[in-house]
Amino acid sequence: MKKLVVLISGNGTNLQSILDACASGRIHGSVAAVFSNKASAYGLVRAQEAGIPGHSLAASAFADREAFDQQLIAGIDAYAPDVVVLAGYMRILSSAFVAHYHDRLLNIHPSLLPKYPGLHTHRQALENGDVEHGTSVHFVTDELDGGPVILQAKVPVFAEDSEEIITERVQHQEHAIYPLVINWFVEGRLTMREGKAWLDGKPLPPQGYAHD
Ligand code: GAR
Repeated sequence: MKKLVVLISGNGTNLQSILDACASGRIHGSVAAVFSNKASAYGLVRAQEAGIPGHSLAASAFADREAFDQQLIAGIDAYAPDVVVLAGYMRILSSAFVAHYHDRLLNIHPSLLPKYPGLHTHRQALENGDVEHGTSVHFVTDELDGGPVILQAKVPVFAEDSEEIITERVQHQEHAIYPLVINWFVEGRLTMREGKAWLDGKPLPPQGYAHD
């Protein structure tokens, strides 16, 4: 059984979808531990309710990003995970962290990358009058929200939408696609090499896997 470690900073609805998928067998793996950079993250309660160890580290206790990430690496590696899953983890990672988990580090970002890396993606989609928005699962590289895309899900944007409604619409898609991609990875179907995501031995296009 493959082992996942999940990193969060907040509510943890994506974590919940991963926990549920592990419990139902949609992910052939288990969550070994959850780490948060916020002690108040509700995702830690979700971990506790699922009987999974949860840990939090406060940035204020460390001299710099490197020291924080070294401690995080030590904590994560104690669980010997096969894959490290960022699920709403809102802290920038050091190069050393990314290098340490190179090719087994996944992230979900709430935009159709390469559009809108960084913060406030839903607000930007609304302000720019986009009619289409969405979310992307990608491998993590040193470039912020810039690693190879594996799978995207699109949602419509309507003129009367609020940021809250778009967030909800996007997260509904996230809860479906992230467990799917994680399962591809744990089953050995998904890899990263030559700067690309590969599924079933074929390189994926820049927008990731396409259904049709
Ligand atoms: C998710 O929508 C995820 O895409 C986003 O944070 C949210 C976390 O929600 N991640 C990022 O913005 C990373 N750049 P959750 O805590 O309910 O899963």
